[in-house]
Amino acid sequence: MKVFRDLAWFFKQEKKAYLSGIFMLFLVAILQLLPPRVIGIVADEIGARTLTLGKLGLWIAVLIVAGLLMYVFRYYWRIYIFGASVKLARILRTRLYEHFTKMSSHFYQRKRIGDLMAHATNDIQAIQQTAGSGVLTLVDSLLTGGFVIIAMATTISWKLTLIALLPMPIIALLTNWYGTKLHARFKKAQEAFSFLNDKTQESISGIKVIKTFGQEKEDINDFKKLSDEVVEKNIAVAKVDSLYDPTISACVGISFFLSIGFGAKFVLDGSITLGDLIAFNTYLGLLIWPMLAFGWFFNIVERGSASYDRVSRLLNEKIDIKDHEHAIIESPKGNIEVNIAKFCYPDNEKTVLKNIKFTLGQGKTLGIVGKTGAGKTSLLKLLLREFEGYEGEIRIGGKEIKEYRLNALRKAFGYVPQEHFLFSASIKENIAFAKPDASEEEIHLAAKIAAVHDDILGFAEGYDTVVGERGVSLSGGQKQRISIARAILLNPEILILDDSLSAVDAKTEETILASLKENRQGKTTIITAHRLSAIQHADLIIVLDEGKIAQQGVHKTLMKEDGWYKDMYLHQQLEALVEHGG
Ligand code: UTP
Ligand code: MG
Repeated sequence: MKVFRDLAWFFKQEKKAYLSGIFMLFLVAILQLLPPRVIGIVADEIGARTLTLGKLGLWIAVLIVAGLLMYVFRYYWRIYIFGASVKLARILRTRLYEHFTKMSSHFYQRKRIGDLMAHATNDIQAIQQTAGSGVLTLVDSLLTGGFVIIAMATTISWKLTLIALLPMPIIALLTNWYGTKLHARFKKAQEAFSFLNDKTQESISGIKVIKTFGQEKEDINDFKKLSDEVVEKNIAVAKVDSLYDPTISACVGISFFLSIGFGAKFVLDGSITLGDLIAFNTYLGLLIWPMLAFGWFFNIVERGSASYDRVSRLLNEKIDIKDHEHAIIESPKGNIEVNIAKFCYPDNEKTVLKNIKFTLGQGKTLGIVGKTGAGKTSLLKLLLREFEGYEGEIRIGGKEIKEYRLNALRKAFGYVPQEHFLFSASIKENIAFAKPDASEEEIHLAAKIAAVHDDILGFAEGYDTVVGERGVSLSGGQKQRISIARAILLNPEILILDDSLSAVDAKTEETILASLKENRQGKTTIITAHRLSAIQHADLIIVLDEGKIAQQGVHKTLMKEDGWYKDMYLHQQLEALVEHGG
């Protein structure tokens, strides 16, 4: 029942709908009492041979009117109660989604996507059911059950009612026991579903890898294992759940047995009529539904409460990167001063960056190079404030980046991540992603700068070509350049290209760099690369080695120093020569 207390805010908010729905349920519960009573009266009239056609017609008319009214009321309680519960799903889903968008990279490193999806679908649905069917079964079983029992006791015989209800305490005890069992088993079932969801998501995303490595069979086996697990856990739920209905039926059976046995005696000694006994048994039949509903209620609520716990735990996860109280609203502009004493990723002791100190003037170009794993991407992530747990400070325009509103800070950047991502939308929409109101001309210009305009025109539908999930139908280089165009379109104060020219040939790289230079006068650009030609004209080049700055300067001075830069540059030049048949 805790889940109802947890959801009290929602019931309060939708008070009108719930009260209207409950009122309708109340009317239905009362109207339901009519038919058994009418049957009893008609039976007695038949027994006494006093039934006339006129009277029968009247009773039938009463039944028809009651039936019609119940039809209308049943329709409306569904509209009210189920309608409100759908709103709960919307509220929770939106909250969860907003929460997801606020969480940092670290959160997504820890969480499995399938698990998050299970929260957003399965769990929300279970909570919605609690607010819909859960409320219904509780209210309806109490109202219908209560009224039927009152009708039996007051209009027929309280003695017979007591006797017929003797099995009730057994039901109450068992229900309690089932509830506890169900809760624990539901939790396990939902967890198993999360795992399965995660597996499915990952396998479908990685299906190409699975196929090229011929791992279909193994993958199917893994899937089957998780799928079996879900079945097993749900069967465990069903095993407890299934006990409930037969228990109710057995108890109701005992009730019928008691009521017929003792009822017959009461009829014979004249304390009730035969019609009363018939009505009594019809009432008893009406009790089956509320008792079953009570069982469903437990099932729904236990499932909902397990899900509510899971969703709240997720919603309560702290947002680790957020705005300070008086954060600056303007986007940063100006020199970038980096002074990082030490940085490790959360949950990882390894020092990734150490003693990184440099200043980049506004409008200048910075090149960051170094072996794979040297810390290039990590440095960029700190600049973007994706992680905060470093010693030292990073300033832009003289102010620490933590002093800016996150939104404002990120607006200053156009970021082309190393692992680029295209949405399942048209190329146009992908480029205009962060600036949806961009004109055709702006989009085309960005694509031209990124040297992908001609490629796009080559597609049958040009800019309207829809790229499949993750842009399946494009080449790696095309996807990369569309990602670049997306960042360029923003004309950001600081453009970051993280290894973004890796999938284009040397000539295209040159074209892109030249048009960047032409179009980004006065704006800052940061480029990381493995091919040194991409950064050789930079105003400052930093060579990282195992998280430390091994060398820094401009191309000319670095070529005079003995070190990684010179070695690598000469090596790459030699390679290029060989490639061109020299
Ligand atoms: P980087 O990802 O910063 O290296 O990882 P890099 O220089 O950009 O490498 P390439 O050229 O793209 O390949 C630096 C170190 O940080 C660790 C990595 O294992 C690597 O040793 N790392 C990276 C983490 O511990 N956690 C992460 O989330 C990312
Ligand atoms: Mg990298």
